Amino acid sequence: MKKALFLLSFVFILFSCGDNNTNENKKYDPTPYQFTQQIPQRDFPLYIPADNPMTVEGVELGKELFANKILSVDNELSCTSCHKPENAYTSNVRFNKGYKGKLMTRNTMSLVNLVFNKYFGWEGSHSSLEEAILATIENKDEFHEDWDNVVVKLLDAGYADKFYKAFGTDDITPILVAKAIAQFLRSNISVNSKFDRAYYFNDPDARFTPLESKGFELFLSEKGDCFHCHRVGPFFDNRFHNNGLDANPEPGLAEVTKEATDFGKFKTGSLRNIAVTAPYMHDGRYSTLEEVLDFYSDHVKYFPTLDPNMNHEGGIFLEDDEKEAVIAFLKTLTDEKYLNK
Ligand code: HEC
Ligand code: HEC
Repeated sequence: MKKALFLLSFVFILFSCGDNNTNENKKYDPTPYQFTQQIPQRDFPLYIPADNPMTVEGVELGKELFANKILSVDNELSCTSCHKPENAYTSNVRFNKGYKGKLMTRNTMSLVNLVFNKYFGWEGSHSSLEEAILATIENKDEFHEDWDNVVVKLLDAGYADKFYKAFGTDDITPILVAKAIAQFLRSNISVNSKFDRAYYFNDPDARFTPLESKGFELFLSEKGDCFHCHRVGPFFDNRFHNNGLDANPEPGLAEVTKEATDFGKFKTGSLRNIAVTAPYMHDGRYSTLEEVLDFYSDHVKYFPTLDPNMNHEGGIFLEDDEKEAVIAFLKTLTDEKYLNK
């Protein structure tokens, strides 16, 4: 018995020596990530999965991977090719070009405040951020790269250590890449617009002009009705609606759920930083906020799934000065400090 125990501990010592040798100079002791922004909690539930807690090391690794062309074939594209930090992580074009210049069929989405999101993609194709990122990396029209090649490139570029520090393993897998980028994107928060300073933080230097106040009132009124879907705070609602863009809409959410009642429904876009994220809607059909307001005012199209909160008689019929006021309010959602950082 004694001998067996002795042998066992000997084996254990051998094993741990071996372990120490391969992981020389490496330490897995990640620092939990703390948000640096003040988040007004009552309106903003956070979605952080238990199996991907945020750490300083994970966020840092994700930030590097997000900007690194290594993930794509021919090292042509990085996430920042389409999701540009200076445009609130989208681009000012209707459709970006993917692999070999192929045009996308959807307008690129802004990747700010994703930590408050439950569903991803205009059609809601993904119910976790990790899954959405994994799909992008593996999408043949976007990155088009073989995973074995990516791993070789990442190892050559010295990433093994960084993965170890973030996840305690240097076995680089697609899911770990997705997890790191997800951690970075969850840290990417913008809640310091003029609106936030006026509404949440009572900053006397951020008082609304009369035009902005009138716009906010319309936004919140039954006439304007914007707030039902673009909820005050995040300015989206983690839901899908048919807001009446087309009399013969594309399937939208029905593509995913196969339910006729979901036909023509798309993810409610956030209105944060909306003044810098033109063009607008899932297919980037409107290039200005004036066009968006004209649509909601006078061109809402009927289809059986049209949202009950939309006026089924063709729009909310705003006067020109009312449209101007709503636009002035929407511009208070621009977070200059965040965009210039
Ligand atoms: C070629 C342009 C392009 C590149 C490169 C690209 N994206 Fe995107 N991204 C898009 C488009 C277009 C959409 C909207 C897709 C849809 O819903 O059909 C999108 C949507 C997303 C969404 C969903 C956001 C939401 O609010 O639902 C996430 C997350 C995302 N991209 C992350 C990434 C990451 C991470 C990378 C790098 C690994 C990346 N993207 C690279 C064009 C791009
Ligand atoms: C019934 C819910 C609903 C109401 C009410 C509503 N919206 Fe929307 N809004 C949406 C949806 C859904 C989208 C995305 C539609 C798409 O792309 O197919 C959207 C998109 C937008 C966009 C473009 C977002 C982007 O990232 O491209 C803007 C701007 C906008 N809405 C402003 C407003 C304003 C202003 C009002 C009030 C006059 C309003 N919305 C009322 C649901 C709504």
